Amino acid sequence: MEWCNVMKKTVILLSVTVAATISLYFLPLLSADGYAASVTKSNFSKFVDAEGNISRPHEFRKNWAHLGSWLVKNDDQATGPGIHDVYTEAASVEAFRQSGEWPDGATLVKEIRSIENKAMTTGNAQWAGEPVVWFVMVRDRKNRFPNNKAWGEGWGWALFEAENPDKNVTTTWKGTGFNNCYGCHLPAEETEWVYIEGYPTIRDAANYESAKN
Ligand code: HEC
Repeated sequence: MEWCNVMKKTVILLSVTVAATISLYFLPLLSADGYAASVTKSNFSKFVDAEGNISRPHEFRKNWAHLGSWLVKNDDQATGPGIHDVYTEAASVEAFRQSGEWPDGATLVKEIRSIENKAMTTGNAQWAGEPVVWFVMVRDRKNRFPNNKAWGEGWGWALFEAENPDKNVTTTWKGTGFNNCYGCHLPAEETEWVYIEGYPTIRDAANYESAKN
């Protein structure tokens, strides 16, 4: 009887040790964004694989810097109505403030959410509802993916839609509709293709001639 109990205890102790060892081994493979790191990831961004396929960052609202918001009213003229919130990593903000330019590997996320409104004690309040799409840009200063058409002018360009939020639907950054990243960002070419006027956290540090005028 006594011997049996000792055996039981040993088995339990062993199982706990094995389980703890296994979790300790796998824990570092999960990044802050909850992704399992994979061997095919590129070495400059955890959101880009070796072929230049971009995946959607998940934790940007919680862990990243909120750069600014745009409100595009819901009228006949609007191509992308909604509240547009733009985020980047805190480290990218820091690097931009030092150099006045986007560092290699910086990620920009623009989340578009529907516009809700209601009479509140403040007045007719408008706020952001559910996400509709996410636009993602990843800075690549080394032209790593010359044959991938979703990369151009030093950025990787990606679009994710709410109905299938982890599927990147951008095959070329010179596509049509929401995938005409090139055409729509051309006015911002002089500021590294980014509309920095909307982002006070970094705007004043910008190192572009056009932004100083
Ligand atoms: C209809 C025009 C249009 C299209 C198409 C478009 N953009 Fe933009 N984008 C803008 C404008 C204008 C802004 C800033 C103002 C706003 O959001 O209304 C912006 C802002 C952004 C931002 C925030 C950082 C910045 O540049 O200011 C990201 C990220 C972004 N776009 C990525 C993309 C990607 C990736 C694509 C293609 C898959 C794309 N955009 C297609 C017009 C467009």
